Amino acid sequence: MEPQKKDPIRRDERLYPLSHDHHGGLVFALRLKKGVTKNADVNEIGDYIRYFWDNELVRHFQDEEAYLLSLLPDDHELKKQTLQEHSQIRDTVDQILRAPGKEKIMNLSTLVNDHIRFEERVLFPYLEKNLSNKQLNDIGDSLMDSDFCDTWENQFWK
Ligand SMILES: [Fe+2]
Ligand SMILES: [Fe+2]
Repeated sequence: MEPQKKDPIRRDERLYPLSHDHHGGLVFALRLKKGVTKNADVNEIGDYIRYFWDNELVRHFQDEEAYLLSLLPDDHELKKQTLQEHSQIRDTVDQILRAPGKEKIMNLSTLVNDHIRFEERVLFPYLEKNLSNKQLNDIGDSLMDSDFCDTWENQFWK
């Protein structure tokens, strides 16, 4: 049997800015994992986490919460899961910034990675299917392409 081709995710273009952020988020998560594996200084990894959190993740979460989740009822399972994962990530970042440690950093890497997979595979397809065209247009009008560019110089992951 021929190996099955993986279906590429066809993202509605009105959600592109968030999916674009997700690419950067996956790179971020991978760098944390590599840094720990290569025994980088946890304080140096912590500095990078603070940078990425302050300059990218806070804004990304706010966008998702303001423009996407606000369209779902509070008791919606996907909304509850998304918010719960945001707060789990927020708490983990907070703990790391107070006292960085390898286990916490690995945990953050997994949380961010899995959260992005969930949004790309479950939440976004659901929204594309269930929101009205008008709602999706409003999202498209509200989302701006992020001008954030990850230029962190200390490549502890190498
Ligand atoms: Fe999210
Ligand atoms: Fe996201």
